Amino acid sequence: MTIRAAKATAHPNIALAKYWGKRADGVNQPAVPSLSVTLAGMATTTTVAFDPALTEDTFLLGGAPADEVAHGRVVKLLDRVRRAAGISTRARVESGNDFPTASGLASSASGFSALALAALSAAGLDTAPTQVSDLARRISVSAARSAFGGFVELPVGSPGEGDLAAIPIAPPEHLALRVVVAVTREGPKAVGSTDGMEHTVRTSPYFPAWVASAPALCARVREAILRRDLEALGVAAEESALAMHATSIAARPGLLYWTGGTVEALEEVRRLRARGLLAYATIDAGPHVKVMTTPEDEPRVTAALAEVPGVKRTIVASPGEGARLLDRT
Ligand code: ADP
Ligand code: DP6
Ligand code: CO
Repeated sequence: MTIRAAKATAHPNIALAKYWGKRADGVNQPAVPSLSVTLAGMATTTTVAFDPALTEDTFLLGGAPADEVAHGRVVKLLDRVRRAAGISTRARVESGNDFPTASGLASSASGFSALALAALSAAGLDTAPTQVSDLARRISVSAARSAFGGFVELPVGSPGEGDLAAIPIAPPEHLALRVVVAVTREGPKAVGSTDGMEHTVRTSPYFPAWVASAPALCARVREAILRRDLEALGVAAEESALAMHATSIAARPGLLYWTGGTVEALEEVRRLRARGLLAYATIDAGPHVKVMTTPEDEPRVTAALAEVPGVKRTIVASPGEGARLLDRT
C-alpha cells in the first residue's frame, strides 16, 4: 500500500478591489470582479497524504483537529480531487498558518490554495496554476487569487457551474509596493467571511449598489496597477474597501468588522497623507488595517501605525509568489 504525499505553500492575498458577495445561483462564484496582490511575509504550509490505511480524512490545523466546518471544507476539496483522479483513498492533511487564522488576514485564501496544490499533486493530477485556482475557488473564492503571484484578477464567471480561475495581470516586481498590516486584535473574528457576505447579500439595501459600482472600481484598480500609479491605486482601493464595509454596516442587523483600533488606524493613514507620505488603507472582513505605501515611506508608516492606540503589532509584506510545491513523495 503506497502513500502518496505532497507538500505545498501559499501566501494570503489582499484584495485591492474587493470581492464581497456570491452570485445568486448557488455555485461558489463571485457577484463582483476582484483584484488582489499576493503577499510574501505571511504563509500557509500544507501536507496532503493519500493513505489507503485511512477510513476517513483527517485534518490538523496548527497541530490540532480543526472544527467541523473547517474539516468539511477540506473534505469537499478532497472529494473533488478524488473524483477527478478516480480514486477513493482518504487523506491525512496537516496545515499551519504563520499568521492569525480566520481573523481577516485571508487565511482561507492561502489555506485553500496551498491545499488545492498539495492535493492535486499528491493525486497525480495537473498542478498548473489555473487548475489550482479553479479548485481553490470552489471552496473559498479569494483562494483562487493566491494560486498566482503578483497582481491577480478574478473576473465574474458566466452563469452555470463552469470553471472559473483567476488571471495574473502583473508579476510581483511590477510595482514597488509595501503593505503594512496593523493588527488590531488577536483571535478569530465573530462572523466568518462566508456567513458575513451571505447576510449582507440577503439583507443589505446597499448590496445592489455595491454590485453596480464594483466593476468600475476594479477597472480603476487594474488600470492604476498597469500604469504603476500608486496614488490612483490607493484612492481606488480605499474606495473599494470602504464601499464593501458600507454594504455590511447597512445589513440588518448591521455587520461591523471594525474595532476602535481600526478607526484610529484609518485616521492615522489620513494624517500620514496630510504629512506628504504615500499611504492608503484597505480592510478585509476583519478589524485589521492594511496600509499600501512605497518602500521609501514604509519605515515611517510602520512607525506611525505602531504608535496608534489599539494597534497591537505590525507586519510588513511585499508582493510575493503564487502557490508552489515544496515536496512530493
Ligand atoms: P480569513 O479572513 O482568515 O480568510 P475566513 O472566514 O474567510 O477568514 O476563513 C477562515 C476559514 O478558512 C477557517 O475557519 C478554516 O475553515 C479555513 N482555513 C484557514 N486556514 C486554513 C488552512 N491553513 N487550511 C485549510 N483551511 C484553512
Ligand atoms: C473581504 O474568500 O474568505 O477578504 O468565498 O466564502 O470563502 P468565501 O469568502 P472569502 O472572502 C473574502 C472577502 C474579502 C475580500 C476579498 O478577499 O476579495
Ligand atoms: Co477568507
